[in-house]
Order: sequence, then structure tokens, then C-alpha cells
Amino acid sequence: MSALFTPLKIKDIKMRNRIGVSPMCQYSSIDGVAQPWHMVHLGARAVGGAGLIIAEATGVSPEGRITPDCAGLWNDTQVEALLPINNFIKSHGAVVGVQIGHAGRKGSASSPWKSGDHLQDDSGGWPTLGPTSDVFDPDGKRLWKTPNAMTQADIDKVQDDFVASAKLALDAGYQMLEVHGAHGYLLHSFFSHLVNTRTDQYGGALKGRARMMLEIVEKVRAVWPENLPLAVRLSVVDWVDGGLTIEDNIQMAKWLKERGVDIVDCSGGGATPASRSSVGTRTADQVGLAGELRAGADIATMAVGYITDAQQAEDVIASGTADVALLAREMMRDPYWPLRAAQTLGVNAKSFLPPQLGTFIA
Ligand SMILES: Cc1cc2nc3c(=O)[nH]c(=O)nc-3n(C[C@H](O)[C@H](O)[C@H](O)COP(=O)(O)O)c2cc1C
Repeated sequence: MSALFTPLKIKDIKMRNRIGVSPMCQYSSIDGVAQPWHMVHLGARAVGGAGLIIAEATGVSPEGRITPDCAGLWNDTQVEALLPINNFIKSHGAVVGVQIGHAGRKGSASSPWKSGDHLQDDSGGWPTLGPTSDVFDPDGKRLWKTPNAMTQADIDKVQDDFVASAKLALDAGYQMLEVHGAHGYLLHSFFSHLVNTRTDQYGGALKGRARMMLEIVEKVRAVWPENLPLAVRLSVVDWVDGGLTIEDNIQMAKWLKERGVDIVDCSGGGATPASRSSVGTRTADQVGLAGELRAGADIATMAVGYITDAQQAEDVIASGTADVALLAREMMRDPYWPLRAAQTLGVNAKSFLPPQLGTFIA
């Protein structure tokens, strides 16, 4: 019996296997509205057999997006475009989730294949927000914009935006909600002392820096149905000397669990240019940290970072490192990765492939 292909129940949601598609920005939305690309990108991976699909970082407001081409969840037009995509994914047996977030001082950038640099306000960009007015890239090369240090009114507005977005996510048919607390975006930038040097109640020691994330999670949990899973993606280490450690994040996970978070998605890096980016690795050295956090905080985890191989993913689950193995780039290479993994692990793929495929190839 394969651990990877053993179903997982979280709250009232049952995943057919432990293989998840990690959130991946597609930079292909218009005014935050999903396009046919998203149906193909996400739909192909549902047909391919993934148990869970987490849609890309989705801005809770226009200025919460990373780029003008990023997905958004702040109006009904966006919900209407998402409904057929999510219905398709569910009709093919995958659980569909979405990652809602605010890009903070890394927002207002152009899409990677355009340059990835910050945009001027009069060229499609917008004023950014941060815990302080410190610039992401002090050398001023790429992400050079000076953010506005957030006032209490700014904090209240962003928290309200997360709540409104969570409600729209439910309307759009998502079954799992993930709050983006990683990669140097707003919530992580509050938590990491590499960025947050505030001296008010949202800064200082660990609990103060955690406050922004915890308040948002508490408010989101209050509107996200109790029977549906709530996840948070953390950068479980900053991957830079003097940054957040796994111990800091075990503490954060305990606080999140107290507030009703069901599963922690264990990513890493991104707080400063010196820290490793979430895709900046060619080794799976991050994966084990999901196990440390799972044991330390007694909470379910998703492991991510250079999981490419079926036996490797099987071991992640069988060893108790994580409850879900998330793949990003390998899923880009092959939306049928779960089919290949089933073949390698001796699992009958007929049970999860649609009959149009399974009848002939499983
Ligand atoms: C094109 C691309 C877009 C990504 N977009 C997001 C995103 O929207 N949210 C997020 O948390 N991580 C994002 N990531 C990071 C991935 O979810 C994942 O954590 C990372 O790529 C490491 O996994 P991998 O080695 O399987 O690619 C993105 C990665 C890629 C390659």
C-alpha cells in the first residue's frame, strides 16, 4: 500500500491522494480575473490525478497583488470566472484550494518575463505597503520602491480585505483556503525581524511580529467554514543568518493551531535579497523542515521544495515528514506526474484517471 496514494481527510474534505500542486503565479489574469489559461493550467493537473490543487497567490486587493497580471479575489467578476474552473477541477476528483495574500513591499512589480522589476505608479504600478518604509532591494536595482510604513488604518484595511477575500473564495467554490504568510510578502515581512523593526504592538519580540498574521488568521477563520480546512504557508526558515529559524516557526505554528489552522505549508526564504528564494534551490533540504514543524507543533504539514521523484514523495509521507507532498516545477514539466508516480509505485491509476484516459492507458 502506497502512503502517497492513501487518501487524506482534513475536516470534511477528502483528498484522493497526498499529491498537491503547489501554488504557482501564472501572471495571466486581467484585472485579477482568471482566463482560459487558468482552466487549462489547473484543469490539466486535476485530470492528471493530483489530490489537491492550490491556485496561485491571489491578491486580496488590487494593491495586494504581486504584479498587475496576478490573480485577485476582491469582486464578483473574479468569482464568476473562477466558478467553472473550480467546478471542472472538482468534477475530476481533485480538491481545489486558493492562496490569498498581500504582496506588501514586493508588490507593484512587473511579471517575470517582462522584467520582474518594480513598476512606476504611472506605468501600471501602485504605492506599496510594508511594516516599515525600508526598501526590499536597498541597492535599488529591481524592487526599489519605498513602501509606506503601515498605519493602524492601513492594517485594519488589509485585515478587512483578507476577510472579504475569504468570503469570496467560498463563493468561488474553493474547498481549502491558504493564507500566504511566506516569501517576504506582507505577512512574512511583519513576522521576520530582518524586515520588521517596528516598535509598536505589531513589532518587537516574536509575538508582536506574529500579531499581524495571527489577527488575520483569526478573522479569516471566523468567516471560513469550520468544516473546511484552513492552511497557512510559512517561510519556515529565512535561509539567511540571523533570520527566522524553524524554532520561531514552530512557535508560530502553535499559535496558528490555537486559532484553528489545520495544516501548515512549509516553504522558505524570500524576506530579503540575501535570503534564498522559494525557487532558489536545487536540493530538497527544505522538505525535512516540514517534519520538524509537524513534530514540534503537533500539526499537519505540507512539504515543498524540489520534490521531483515518486519514491522521494512516497518517503516524505511514509516517514511522517508531511501529510501532503507539494510539487511546483515538476508539475509544470508534467501534469501527469501522479500517473507516472502511480506507475512507479505499483498503484492502479485507473481509479483516479478520467475514463477518457484510464480506460486505455492505466
Ligand atoms: C512559476 C512559479 C510560480 C510560483 N508562484 C507561487 C505562488 O503563487 N505562491 C507561493 O507561495 N509560491 C509560489 N511559487 C513557489 C512554489 O509554490 C514552490 O514552493 C517552489 O517552486 C518550490 O517547489 P518546487 O521545487 O516543486 O518547484 C512559485 C513557483 C514557481 C516556479
